[in-house]
Amino acid sequence: MEHIYPIKTKVSKEQREKMLQQKATLIWFTGLSGSGKSTLAVQLEAQLHDLGFKTYLLDGDNIRAGLNKDLSFAEDGRIENIRRIGEVSKLLLDAGVIVLSAFISPFQADRDQVKSIVGEENYIEIFVDTPIEVCEQRDVKGLYKKARAGEVKNFTGIDSPYEAPRNPDVIIPTHTLSIDESITLLLKYITPRITPS
Ligand code: ADX
Repeated sequence: MEHIYPIKTKVSKEQREKMLQQKATLIWFTGLSGSGKSTLAVQLEAQLHDLGFKTYLLDGDNIRAGLNKDLSFAEDGRIENIRRIGEVSKLLLDAGVIVLSAFISPFQADRDQVKSIVGEENYIEIFVDTPIEVCEQRDVKGLYKKARAGEVKNFTGIDSPYEAPRNPDVIIPTHTLSIDESITLLLKYITPRITPS
């Protein structure tokens, strides 16, 4: 940060939140590939939008096709991926937005870092807790098959670790809950927290 002098804007986060009538919050989905993070995040965003919230969804595959296309799936690439998303989320929160974010984010330390970047009080962690056997059976993108065949390296749950969250705010077992049931649970937890008192 040598020779860097951040400016102060005239419009504050609080003013933007007031205009939008919401409490800017980061809703962070973590879980294995194929666990259902994106499905839930897409559906939840649509419902929050219908309820009148101003939202934005950051999704692993989309961000890795653009902003983070220079990053690998080796450990250092994943760490930098999540760090950048933490910083992007912070900017969007400053803009007053409800941010939904769906990344495998396999490491506890990186999720903790995001939490400290955006502030604990602005962070809700959703663990999409689907057993790997179920994810592998779904294999929507055919990547588990490729990982088993050695055609995709460093695949989470196969030859790269996934650290389950220590203290998530909500756990969604998608192998036992329907999408509608999951969304109902999520809305019940999230709506009061993003509505100004
Ligand atoms: S993260 O681990 O860095 O958080 P991220 O959520 O951005 O991962 O990207 C995960 C998506 O990238 C997966 O859903 C899958 O479609 C794709 N992908 C490609 N290669 C891998 C890999 N080696 N491990 C996991 N996902 C991969």
